[in-house]
Amino acid sequence: MPVSDAPAAALIALERIADGGFAEAEACIDGDHEPLVLYREGERVRGWLNICPHAGRRLDWAPGQFLKSKAGDLVCAAHGASFSLTDGECVAGPCKGDRLRSVALEVRDGQVFLA
Ligand code: FES
Repeated sequence: MPVSDAPAAALIALERIADGGFAEAEACIDGDHEPLVLYREGERVRGWLNICPHAGRRLDWAPGQFLKSKAGDLVCAAHGASFSLTDGECVAGPCKGDRLRSVALEVRDGQVFLA
């Protein structure tokens, strides 16, 4: 079977994510089509599966609309669990101590890719 050497498609353009803001994307990871939450900090983007470890719900309250607390944490819209935007750890709420599943990303030429 021929192996495709086509370049991987970008998840999103960096400019489509506000600095300090979120965006959603979808990616094929280990053969599964997964929803992602992306968080931009300057020229860097962090990503996690958009699946809350508490009850498996999406974190956004509407597609691509995520909540950020005054403390700067990502807040799950379902039951309010708060996640550190540094490492994805749940710092408060019903799944405290659990973590979002991180996804390695890189920014190249103004586009965000799976690393
Ligand atoms: S599903 Fe996220 S806090 Fe319950």
